Amino acid sequence: MENKRIVIGCDHAGFVLKQKVVEHLKSRGIDVVDVGTHTTESCNYVDFAHAVCEAVTSGTADLGILVCGTGIGMSMAANKHAGIRAAVCENTFSARMTRMHNDANVLCMGERVIGYGLACDIVDLFVDTEFLGGRHQVRVDALNALD
Ligand code: RB5
Repeated sequence: MENKRIVIGCDHAGFVLKQKVVEHLKSRGIDVVDVGTHTTESCNYVDFAHAVCEAVTSGTADLGILVCGTGIGMSMAANKHAGIRAAVCENTFSARMTRMHNDANVLCMGERVIGYGLACDIVDLFVDTEFLGGRHQVRVDALNALD
């Protein structure tokens, strides 16, 4: 898919990494909508997970990215949304595989877990890798039926 539209959100613990990821995506010419948070003031990651998931499920965005301290709270909140398949990734292999096999549509990362360089590599693989379909489609269909 050409020109994927990305929506990104974070909480206070993911703000610095989120800013860097936004900068990175823009430097690649990728269209990115930032739903906040926009400061390091304490907030609730659930609110930002919800905003990102709404953009993905409504079709406003093709893929979402969420950053909190660990990526875990964001993934828990995101996976409560029907139609969302969110994956916490801390390495490039997982980022590639979760697109190829799980058709993940939301990437979650932890600012307190990984550095900026790795995060941008993970983002690149997540955005650039396509779902394989085939036998994986059957499994994703079964996953979606649990919504
Ligand atoms: C905030 O302190 C932290 O709990 C949050 O960013 C996230 O890591 C939760 O899973």
